[in-house]
Parts: sequence; structure tokens; C-alpha cells
Amino acid sequence: MSEDLHIVTGNKTEQYQSLIPQIKGLLDGETDLIANLANVAAAMKEQFNWLWIGFYLVKNDELIVGPFQGPVACTRIRKGKGVCGTSWAKRETIIVPDVEKFPGHIACSSLSKSEIVVPVIRNNEVIAVLDIDSKEYNSFDETDQQYLEQIVKLIEF
Ligand code: SME
Repeated sequence: MSEDLHIVTGNKTEQYQSLIPQIKGLLDGETDLIANLANVAAAMKEQFNWLWIGFYLVKNDELIVGPFQGPVACTRIRKGKGVCGTSWAKRETIIVPDVEKFPGHIACSSLSKSEIVVPVIRNNEVIAVLDIDSKEYNSFDETDQQYLEQIVKLIEF
């Protein structure tokens, strides 16, 4: 594929529908996990320009920050802690319209107002979570959930 991402304007669905085939192209033939997570984070940052997008990887029973785009972030998160640790423990996507109203939310950036976390599950194990933060309240909904769950399934290793 060409090196440049084709960025579109339009509603959320149009943006995801343009991005997904390009992400498939980026991942095609590459099995290195870190390389793939890095390119997926970069592609999504370019299209959506969220405040922070990245992955936390499960290592020795905690989450450790992995490839991301955005401001520096908390390095380690324990299971059940914050939005990320809760998504890991519950094995489900969590949408947070207002981070101040999520009990135990871990504030890595004071600019973050809303958040979505999607678990990456392989062989029935959560191996990572995808975390996205927005500077606006109420940025994420079921449309994001549906497409982001699709995107994390594309990551092979
Ligand atoms: N807010 C997250 C921590 C990670 S940062 O947002 C990058 C949480 O509560 O788990």
C-alpha cells in the first residue's frame, strides 16, 4: 500500500469505513505485535486526532503502556483499576462519557474528558487493551465500540 494514509472528513461511520481497509493494508503480512499496534495507533490518531490513543499490554498481571500517540501516559495499571483495568477485569468495552464521573478513573492527562477502552482478546485471554481519550465530553458511543472491536480483531500475532 502507499505510505500515506488517506484521511477523510465525514461522520464517524464514514471515517471508520475509510480507515478499516487501510488498517488491513498496514497489517497485511506483518505478524510483529509491537509494529502492528504502533501503526494502528498512528493511523487512528491521524484520522481522528484524538487526544490520546494507544495500547496497554498485559504483562505479569498488570497493564504496561505500549505503542501510543499523544501526551506521556501512566506506565502501569493494576487489574480492576481505572477504566483500563476495569475493562481488562470485566473483559468488555467500557464507554466513559465524563471521566470525572467514573469511580477510580486514572487521570494521565487533565485534558482528557471522555474515554473508551476495548479489550484485545486472544485465545480467550485479554492480552492488551485499546484506550482512547478525548478532549471533549461524550465523544464515544456504540458506533465507536462496534468499529473499534472490529479493528482490534484485525491485529494478528
Ligand atoms: N484513564 C485511564 C488511564 C490511561 S490514560 O487515559 C492514557 C484509566 O482510567 O484507566
